[in-house]
Amino acid sequence: MHAVPFLKRNASKNNLKTIEPMVQTVQDLLKGPHPAFLEGMGGSAFLRRLIAFRLQIPVSRLFTEPDYPLGEQASVLRDDLQRLENGCPAGYIFGEVGFLEWEFYSDERALCPREETAFLADWLRRAHPQAPKRIVDLGCGSGVIGLSLALSWPESQVTLVDLSPQALALTRKNVERHNLSSRARLVASDWWNALTGAQFELVVANPPYVASDDEVEPGVLSFEPHAALFSDEQGMADIKAILTPLDHFLAPGGMAALECGHYHHKTLQVWLQGSGLNYEWLQDPYGVPRYLIIRKELDAWQKS
Ligand SMILES: C[S@@+](CC[C@H](N)C(=O)[O-])C[C@H]1O[C@@H](n2cnc3c(N)ncnc32)[C@H](O)[C@@H]1O
Repeated sequence: MHAVPFLKRNASKNNLKTIEPMVQTVQDLLKGPHPAFLEGMGGSAFLRRLIAFRLQIPVSRLFTEPDYPLGEQASVLRDDLQRLENGCPAGYIFGEVGFLEWEFYSDERALCPREETAFLADWLRRAHPQAPKRIVDLGCGSGVIGLSLALSWPESQVTLVDLSPQALALTRKNVERHNLSSRARLVASDWWNALTGAQFELVVANPPYVASDDEVEPGVLSFEPHAALFSDEQGMADIKAILTPLDHFLAPGGMAALECGHYHHKTLQVWLQGSGLNYEWLQDPYGVPRYLIIRKELDAWQKS
């Protein structure tokens, strides 16, 4: 079964009795047996990364100094493993996450970015032979989509929008981390509300799209902000709120790209057909049509 963001998978068997208080050195922890859930995360390679992170030493020292004492970090590591077992995203433990070629800060203030979202950002880079002048990332969370696109296109200006002040504070940290202050604007807004009159060549959004009766992994529910996940109308309310006024904000010749839920290519069909939008569905890496791509024609005078 492939990794499906948010939706429930079978929980791994709890095997944390292997991380007993008597574990005192790196070697004690590494020799295992390891908790079952670790296998799905990269097994001992992941565990080494975690140990090195907590001890603040290079991974190579775990090989050369297997008797390195865990000290006070033993209980911290035990706690980390418990949180991971309960479904906490690894990005929250490390405080950062890789997205395309870059690392971004990640914590409980925003959704931990998913690989499927990086896939869309990468597709957008390939779909644009020229850098879009103005980009807006609606529901930016930690800012990964808009900021990675700004890093990919040094000429682009990016507007990062979120309703959550906490998410915007995290985005600001990522703006600073990547020295993007001169090209990134942060806006607290309920979707388009604070952007009246603005236009963008590229609109990108990964809005909340989980329906209240979707089965969601317990870890996602426990650790990630619910405002980033759930949307009314079977997960379609925020998608529609973004799409309804889209034409005013999309520059002629521009493109919009929205990540949607697994069944929205079916449930949105009738609504989309009546919307007048020029749309198509792009498949995710697992073959599910998950990304709604909308193109706006150039004005006649721009074509000639
Ligand atoms: C699924 S998360 C996406 C976060 C980030 N773009 C990513 O892909 O990792 C959705 C984001 O939309 C924001 N959001 C929810 N409702 C909103 C609204 N009405 N206006 C603006 N942002 C909203 C949430 O705070 C959250 O950060």
